[in-house]
Amino acid sequence: MCGIIGIVTGHTVVTGLISSLKLLEYRGYDSAGIATMQDGQVWRERAAGKLANLEKKIKDDGVREGGIGIGHTRWATHGAPTEGNAHPHIVDNVIIVHNGIIENYAELRDELLENGANMQSETDTEVIGHLISQQLKIDKNIETAVQTAIGKLTGAFALAIMIKGEENLLIGARKGCPLVVGIGDVEGHYIGSDALALSPFSRQIIYLEEGDFVFASKEDYRIFDQAGTLVTRDINHVEVQSATMDKGNHKHYMAKEFFEQPDVVQHTLAHYLNMDDNQINIDANLDIKKFDRIIIVSCGTSYYAASVAKYWLEEATNMSVEVDVASEYRYRNPPLNAKCLFIVVSQSGETADSLAALRLAKHKGATTVAIVNVSTSTMSREADFVLPTFAGIEVCVASTKAFMCQISVLATLSIALGKAIGHINADQATTMASDLAQLPRLINDAFMVEPEIKELAHDISKVEHMLFLGRNTSFPIAMEGALKLKEITYIHAEGYAAGELKHGPIALIDEKMPLIIIAPDNEVYEKTRSNIEEIAARGGDITVLTTQKRAKEIRKLGLKAIALPDCSSFLAPFIYTVPVQLLAYHTAVHMGTDVDQPRNLAKSVTVE
Ligand code: F6R
Repeated sequence: MCGIIGIVTGHTVVTGLISSLKLLEYRGYDSAGIATMQDGQVWRERAAGKLANLEKKIKDDGVREGGIGIGHTRWATHGAPTEGNAHPHIVDNVIIVHNGIIENYAELRDELLENGANMQSETDTEVIGHLISQQLKIDKNIETAVQTAIGKLTGAFALAIMIKGEENLLIGARKGCPLVVGIGDVEGHYIGSDALALSPFSRQIIYLEEGDFVFASKEDYRIFDQAGTLVTRDINHVEVQSATMDKGNHKHYMAKEFFEQPDVVQHTLAHYLNMDDNQINIDANLDIKKFDRIIIVSCGTSYYAASVAKYWLEEATNMSVEVDVASEYRYRNPPLNAKCLFIVVSQSGETADSLAALRLAKHKGATTVAIVNVSTSTMSREADFVLPTFAGIEVCVASTKAFMCQISVLATLSIALGKAIGHINADQATTMASDLAQLPRLINDAFMVEPEIKELAHDISKVEHMLFLGRNTSFPIAMEGALKLKEITYIHAEGYAAGELKHGPIALIDEKMPLIIIAPDNEVYEKTRSNIEEIAARGGDITVLTTQKRAKEIRKLGLKAIALPDCSSFLAPFIYTVPVQLLAYHTAVHMGTDVDQPRNLAKSVTVE
């Protein structure tokens, strides 16, 4: 995580650094800092907490401009989120910002301390500053000194570096973490964590490769690969959709984003589904018959999207579908070969573990597909096929509309693969597709439960624990509901398969334990209904999310029920996601937590 930016134009850079940091704050908001150089002087400002604190400090202390500068927004790894640990770090002549984790930092730090280094912070970044500074004393050639020093690091990093006295030299290096170079639309050169960070200044973007170094001046730039060879990298023309840092009429980005769901689902479906004839068109040459297995790997909310798709894909294709969290998958040495269709699901397209899993699958010969929201991301560039989601920029750290778009793509993919392998026929495929076409209207209708959910949120805001239950595709939605609640309210919540409760968690049930039971009227409804009775018999505080008809029956049992629009089993995960998102949101609003930037989190998880 962490976002980095570097600018060399020879003119004033502070406004540019701050506007980029605003676009990078989704990568972490534990602290922020900038440094500039001018006339032999280095100026640095840092502040713990959000970027707004840094802006205030700069306003109070007064700006000191420079023709070159670097900036950072932090998600703490080594060392508490204090001002002292905030980047940029300055070690002698070296000014540095870093995204990533240096794995051999403890040994390097011990060595440096033994040799008399004076450490000012608890960060692994400062160690890099010391290594470069030491090397510069031995080797006066900055390019080779920096490459030698950075060559001693193991782990993942993207770095932006300035050297005191070198006011026309901006240095970047990457391994394991993304870093891009921008050629200024008007002037100068830029380096940053992503194309979005450079969008105010540059549409000509170079994606640095693993192990690359860049040495940029305002006039020119030179890139070296990890062997130290001068290389040429492609320049990509990138039109990054500018992030609308605008909440519209909403109090929070989260509300704005989940109310956009009918539109973004429509937009995403329109890319894969011809609404005139209900034919699915997946723009990827996937010869499904050559595969014997489908593997889907992802993290967090994207993992729950994958988990929903497991039910659909198995049903549609009759193939074995494995779903795993990327942080486990990548270190398991899983059997993978050319007969595997490997799908990675990611909003950001940069999540370190998911990216590593994608690379592992490619390395072992699987055909890879990335379902991603950020079209300029690393996964979009590295997968064999990309199936984009069209959620637009998601600003709120807790994912809502990206999830809906992910399951939209996975639903169309399930139909396409099922039809291609011959497990569902053309008529079934058309019926399923015409079902999907109802989604924007049904999702919109689902928001009608908001007043009831608001009332429920009032009660939930007083509890410390709660459970979400569901069967079939409602099981991943239960887990997603629990994750949303945990993330933005800090209430402990778990999602369970309803049938699994009696194997242990039922011991938790008493009148103080609220449960949300997701029970669409589908083929497993009666089974869920038995679970509802079992919990009711033990005094659990139950609210059932179900259809109008079933809600009436549930209320007759003296239990709470909230009625969602009628829909097919296929569409249920979309429709039942709405109330669990609303519940997390309104509970957080009651509690007064930071809905859009919850504590300890970051939007893009680029460290493992
Ligand atoms: C939860 C959330 C996270 C992400 C996870 C994966 O609301 O947003 O759990 O889903 O960090 O991120 P991506 O999808 O960018 O790979």
